[in-house]
Amino acid sequence: MLKFEESARIIAAESQYVSGGVNSNFRLGMSPGPLVFTHGEGAYLHDVDGNKLIDYYCGMGAMVLGHTPPGVQAAVKSQVDKGILFAGQAPIEYEAARIICERIPSAERLRFGSSGSEVAQAAMRVSRAATGRQTIVKFEGHYHGWFDNVLWSTAPALADAGPADAPVLVAGSKGQARADGDGLDVLQWNDLAAVEARLARGDVAAIMMEAAMCNQGAIAPMPGYLEGVQAACRKHGTILIFDEVITGFRLGASGAQGRFNVTPDLSIFAKAIANGFPVAAIVGRADLMDMFSTGGVLHGGTFNSQPVAMAAMVATQQGLTPEHYERTSVYGVRLRDGIRDILAQAGIKAQVTGFELMFHVAFGLDAPARNYRDLTKADKAGYSRFSQALLQHGVRVLERGAWFVSSEHNDAVVDKTLEAVRAAAKDVAPSLAT
Ligand SMILES: Cc1ncc(COP(=O)(O)O)c(C=O)c1O
Repeated sequence: MLKFEESARIIAAESQYVSGGVNSNFRLGMSPGPLVFTHGEGAYLHDVDGNKLIDYYCGMGAMVLGHTPPGVQAAVKSQVDKGILFAGQAPIEYEAARIICERIPSAERLRFGSSGSEVAQAAMRVSRAATGRQTIVKFEGHYHGWFDNVLWSTAPALADAGPADAPVLVAGSKGQARADGDGLDVLQWNDLAAVEARLARGDVAAIMMEAAMCNQGAIAPMPGYLEGVQAACRKHGTILIFDEVITGFRLGASGAQGRFNVTPDLSIFAKAIANGFPVAAIVGRADLMDMFSTGGVLHGGTFNSQPVAMAAMVATQQGLTPEHYERTSVYGVRLRDGIRDILAQAGIKAQVTGFELMFHVAFGLDAPARNYRDLTKADKAGYSRFSQALLQHGVRVLERGAWFVSSEHNDAVVDKTLEAVRAAAKDVAPSLAT
């Protein structure tokens, strides 16, 4: 049995200074408790109890090149020697911008920020300014950051969420005012008719969506869905925003928009863009992006395009070669399909869905989920027991079912992981209803 007692001791002691011992609520509720790490190494994390864990959190999706990529480390060290923050421009940020504009189909121009939550705000603001309309449509189960005006219906209890064909907004946190949701409307995702009907009312500034739903589940858009939404947006003068904070640089070098060949008006990126450094980007049509410089739309941020983070970004992007995607996808697919086979052999009913470098495991579903409401039928408690069993076998996965793969999850790491999956499946299978 692996022990996590030193982590527990530190979290309890440091809760005196840091609320709950953690600096994000998303690090709070995990079993056996939040862990404290001493260092990372490729695909591994080392914790204060001396455990060496294969890590599939990958910094919540950010560490696409693993925990210690030499190119990124060297670029950061070299930039630190040149200075940290200029409150002015540096050549490195233009190099970074050129790379993104060349890679991302929708990126005619961009602005950098520091987190996905922030650039989601910028996207909503510029959409409202450009259209003169107030309403932003989002989708149940999609997450666009933790701010008051958009943290709605991210993981609502169905009892509160209204009927599937007319969902109602549900706040994601105590402390949000009802009025914070006034500029928002919510729909079921992957339902084109619902979008067409809503946009026909002519008052929607923007539709914002994860183009593949990955914050909950790992669900591809139905064939024709993205194209249909884009056509409806064009018809009704609505701006289409893709939130690629997870899918960017994971579903391929050009994100979900390149993979599914649908180019939105605006998109936002963060996480894997700079392999763990706080970089985000809003990119899009030149006429919309120029509203920040000449159209009276404010976008600010002391840390925007911070040169050290920009150096990390450029080095990360240089690592994201076609060869990286080819090689890492082979590992990811071997892992994903291996998990599916092992769970089936163990008699555990599960859906393993998603992509090469990001997939999702849901217990208890008869068919792959198409939207948030399908996902709510999964056996979350059963999967949580499985994730705890995996941790006991040295593999750290998110309890919500997501797996993030990096270039460091090579064949040897996948072999070890599948061994652990086999052992964990054996541990929990007797307790799962089939
Ligand atoms: C799809 C999506 N959008 C936006 C965000 C917010 O990004 P950040 O945590 O960098 O503010 C997240 C974070 O998990 C995300 O998954």
